[in-house]
This record gives sequence, C-alpha cells and structure tokens, in this order.
Amino acid sequence: MRVAVYPGSFDPFTKGHADILKRAAKLFDHVIVGVLVNPYKKCLFSPKERVQQICDVAKHLENVRVIHFDGLLVDFCATVGATAIIRGLRAVSDYEYEMQMFTVNNTLSPKIETVFLMASPPYSFLSSSIVKEVAKYGGDISNMVAPSIKEEVESKFEALKNEK
Ligand code: PNS
Repeated sequence: MRVAVYPGSFDPFTKGHADILKRAAKLFDHVIVGVLVNPYKKCLFSPKERVQQICDVAKHLENVRVIHFDGLLVDFCATVGATAIIRGLRAVSDYEYEMQMFTVNNTLSPKIETVFLMASPPYSFLSSSIVKEVAKYGGDISNMVAPSIKEEVESKFEALKNEK
C-alpha cells in the first residue's frame, strides 16, 4: 500500500493545489492532505476551516483524506504510515525553498521520498498569497479557487472590512 502526504498551509486551497492532489491521487493508493497548524503564522482561515474546505473540494477523490497536523512533517508521515511527500513546483523561484525542505526532511527521515509534480500550465502563477491579494482588493478569484472557497474567502474579507 503506497501512502503519500500532500502537506501545506493551504490558506486557502487553490485550483493549483487541487490539480496536484488529483494527479497525486492517481499515483498513490492513499493520499493524505496534511494541513499545517502553525501558531506562529497568521492565517486567514483556521485549521478546521481549511480542512473542511479541502474535504468539500476533494470529496470525489475516494482515496484522499484530509487531516491537520502540527510538529514535524516527517513525524506526521510516520504516524499515518506515509512513505512519500508530495510537493507541487511552479517556477524556478520555488526551487530553493523546496530543496531546503527536501534536505531537512531527508536528513531527518531518509526513507521518506519527496515527489515533485510540476504545476499544470494554467496554475503556474497561482498561490494562496495571490488569491488573498486579489480578493482583498475586490478582484475576481473565480479562476483561482473552487466556487465554495471563493465564497468563503470573499465573506472573510467582507467581515474583516466591517471590523475596521
Ligand atoms: O504550503 P507551505 O506553507 O509551503 O507548506 C510548508 C510545509 C507545511 C510543508 C512545511 O512548513 C512543513 O512541513 N512544516 C512542518 C514543520 C517541519 O517539518 N519542518 C521541517 C521541514 S522545513
């Protein structure tokens, strides 16, 4: 049984993330989306909200589960029995950060392989930060996130605006 973890902040989960997940689900028996709980990083959505958003978007993928985790990624992989980590690569600018993460994870746990999938062309520009930047200023994010997530991102910014 080949189990992989697809880890990330997913704040929010974009169409680019969904594309990588769908492709990873074809390569592995089980894929577990690991949503990072990081108290030091200010996120737009809580871990619970992010897990729910991804569950909704990925409900048609039968071999995918979504779980939040804290601590080291390699420990999470061991807990869920995963032998591979999936990461998406967009541009050359991703390379240094990904190489660094691979090196740390590989040093901590050499048996866990990292598998990089290149972003499909329509998503090579896309990131959660871009989604938030565009949504913050009222831009259209419908080609960047699923409709259910679009609604939640827009309501979140609306609520933040009303708080001021
Ligand atoms: O979507 P992101 O923010 O680029 O994902 C980064 C993530 C969650 C994969 C990375 O920060 C992570 O694995 N964090 C858990 C802590 C850890 O294991 N750190 C060592 C590897 S750098």
